[in-house]
Order: sequence, then C-alpha cells, then structure tokens
Amino acid sequence: MKARIVTLPGDGVGPEVTAAAVAVLKTVAARYEHVFAFEEQLIGGIAIDATGEPLPAASLAACRSADAVLLGAVGGPKWSDPNAPVRPEQGLLALRAALGVYANLRPLQVHPALANLSPLKNEKLKNIDVLFVRELTGGAYFGAKTRTDEAATDECRYTVAEIERVVRRAFELARGRRRHVTSVDKANVLETSRLWRSTVQRIAAEYPDVKLEHQLVDSMAMLLLTQPNRYDVVVTENLFGDILTDEAAALAGSLGLLPSASLGDGKAGLYEPIHGSAPDIAGRGVANPVGAILSAALLLRHSLGLETEAVAIESAVEQVLRHGPHSRDIGGHAGTDEVRDAVLAAIEDHADNAAAFFCGARACG
Ligand code: NAD
Ligand code: IPM
Ligand code: MN
Repeated sequence: MKARIVTLPGDGVGPEVTAAAVAVLKTVAARYEHVFAFEEQLIGGIAIDATGEPLPAASLAACRSADAVLLGAVGGPKWSDPNAPVRPEQGLLALRAALGVYANLRPLQVHPALANLSPLKNEKLKNIDVLFVRELTGGAYFGAKTRTDEAATDECRYTVAEIERVVRRAFELARGRRRHVTSVDKANVLETSRLWRSTVQRIAAEYPDVKLEHQLVDSMAMLLLTQPNRYDVVVTENLFGDILTDEAAALAGSLGLLPSASLGDGKAGLYEPIHGSAPDIAGRGVANPVGAILSAALLLRHSLGLETEAVAIESAVEQVLRHGPHSRDIGGHAGTDEVRDAVLAAIEDHADNAAAFFCGARACG
C-alpha cells in the first residue's frame, strides 16, 4: 500500500527516537512491499526558533493531509521560562486539537525480562495488560486561562458530547479485549467528574456485555501499584490520564518504553511515545527508542490497517527486550542505534520465518 507519513521529530531526544522509528517503518515497507513517503516538519522549540511559532502553518497543513503523523517530543529548558510568550507544548496541544484526536490510547504491558526494574515486587507484575484511553482534547488543558499578579485559573470544562465519544471508544476497545472498563474520575469533588460519571453510566447501558467499574483517581493512583493486573481498559479525562500513565510507565520499567496512538473519528492519527524530550540525556545517542518504535507499530495498525506488519514490529521489540541489547534506562549499555539495529534484525528474522512457514505450508520451496 501507499501512505504519506508526516514526521515531527521536535526537541531533545525527539529526533533521536523518531529516526529509529522511521528506520523501522522503512524496513517494514521494504520487507512487506509498501511505499511510505515521509515528510519531515517542524514542531515545538525548534519550530519556535525557526519561525517564532510552535506549530507553523506549514506543519499543520502537512499533518492535516497525511495518512498518519509520527511525533518525537517537544519542550526543553531553553523554552521553559514561565514568562515566555510562546511554549513548545502549545504546539503539541494545538496539533491534537486541530487533528481532533480525542482518544489517546496508551497500552501498558510489563515484559518479564524487565520486571526487576520495577519498584514493585515481581509477583505483582504478572499478567499486566492495561489499555489506558485518555481523553486528549478537552478538560483543564483547553479551558480558559486567566492570570493576574495575585491569582491564576485554568477552567476545566467537559461537554457530554466530548465525554460520550471517548467513552464509546473505550467500550468498543474493551470488546476486543477482556470486556472490562474502569472509568476514573473525581466525582466526589468535581462537577466535571459527576457529568463524566453519569455519562459513562448511560453509555455503559449500550454495552451490557462489558463490565464497568468507577474508581476515584486518588485511589486509582494507589491501586495501579497494588493491583495492576486487575485492569483492562481504563478511561479517564485528560489531566488524570496524563498523570496515571507516567505512573504506569514505572511498572514497565522506563518511561522510554511506552507508545501512544491519538485517534479521532477518521483513520488518520497522531503517534508518539508518552515520554518527553528528556533534556537530561538528549544529544548523547542513549535514549531508548522502544516507545517511538512501538508507536510506529500502532500507526501501522490503527491508521494503515497493517496488522501483520504491526505485529512484526511488536514481536521484534519483544525479542530485543528478552535478549538485549538494552538501553541504559532499562539497565543496559546500548545506545539508541544499537537497539534500533537489533529491532531491524529481528524484523527481518520474523519476516523470514513467516515466509518459511508460508512456503512450508504451501510446499512452494
Ligand atoms: P521526560 O519524559 O522528558 O523525562 C523524564 C525522565 O525519563 C528523564 O529522566 C528522562 O531521561 C527519562 N526518559 C524519557 N524518555 C526516555 C527515553 N526515551 N529513554 C530513556 N530515558 C527516557 O519528562 P520531563 O523531564 O518532565 O520533561 C521534559 C520536557 O519534555 C518538558 O519540556 C515537557 O513539557 C516535555 N514533554 C513533552 C512530551 C511530548 O512531547 N509528548 C511529553 C512529556 C513531556
Ligand atoms: C504527554 C505530555 C504532554 C501532555 C505535554 C508535553 C503537553 O506530558 O503527552 O503526556 O501533558 O499531554
Ligand atoms: Mn505526560
């Protein structure tokens, strides 16, 4: 198939991990006979430096017409002055809003080979398979802001329509999994959460085959650490989802491992690792590219419908996590390129094995 993929490497380790993910997509294209056209555009701090804007019009136009967008990370100390008139993060938020990608899927699995890195005891880490569905284009992130010398406000606003569409997506996804949805809110305090909860309850009636439970976000923060394998699909608002998924990354062993897919109503989507620009390690070639590479797998699955190819990448990453090489954040010494090359080699192996199996079954020699 033919696809146009816009890349937004951004800042810090963003370009390092995005380059690795693009290399993986190129290998997949060659192996499985697809034609992917890549177009690189600016976002974040590097875009502010070049154009004065965190999301230049040319970047947004390219993203709007792409089949999928692969993003690295934005931000860094250079642009973090609280009084700065523009910030890299505004570019990312504007992009999510403009593309209408309201459902942010953040899958979490814990690889047995990395269980020792988690602060939790090994027995708690068995059978963890959670899909966080984070609302991505509403809530406190996008409400009105005010600021005086003495006070500041961030309005948190949700409409029923905004809640319904992301919650429906969560229930649909649960039907392809273990049919269990946990909705996380703060309905004992927040009005937006009470609207969230009653909307979830109403939508749940359309999915009698899916079990629903509600959980308050503060206790959820604890339960994620004490009983992580109880959860299947976890749906929550923008800010709670941001915080809970970084917490969840600690279970996996490193923030550098987790991918995400941000989806709207159409096929196009925005794909990015959940980590940031990691200024503390940027420019040294040591960032873990796995979160970005697994985001590329999600891109193939959700935007291009290439399930076999997505699985090829995921199996390759699984092998590399099992046997190494490992980057420093997960206890190894390998650099970004070494991990990338190991994943590329494993993809070639995977494709060779699949071809051998196919030929064996058909006796085509
Ligand atoms: P961060 O995610 O950049 O880093 C947190 C810690 O995780 C650091 O110690 C870092 O070295 C480590 N880490 C992150 N990614 C890694 C990787 N791939 N390999 C190995 N280690 C990795 O969070 P932060 O330091 O709080 O934020 C830095 C900047 O990134 C801020 O400007 C923030 O706004 C931005 N940010 C951007 C995104 C995004 O673009 N999607 C996401 C989160 C944070
Ligand atoms: C994330 C990041 C972003 C968010 C920031 C950089 C705007 O933390 O993607 O998780 O808060 O959504
Ligand atoms: Mn975050």
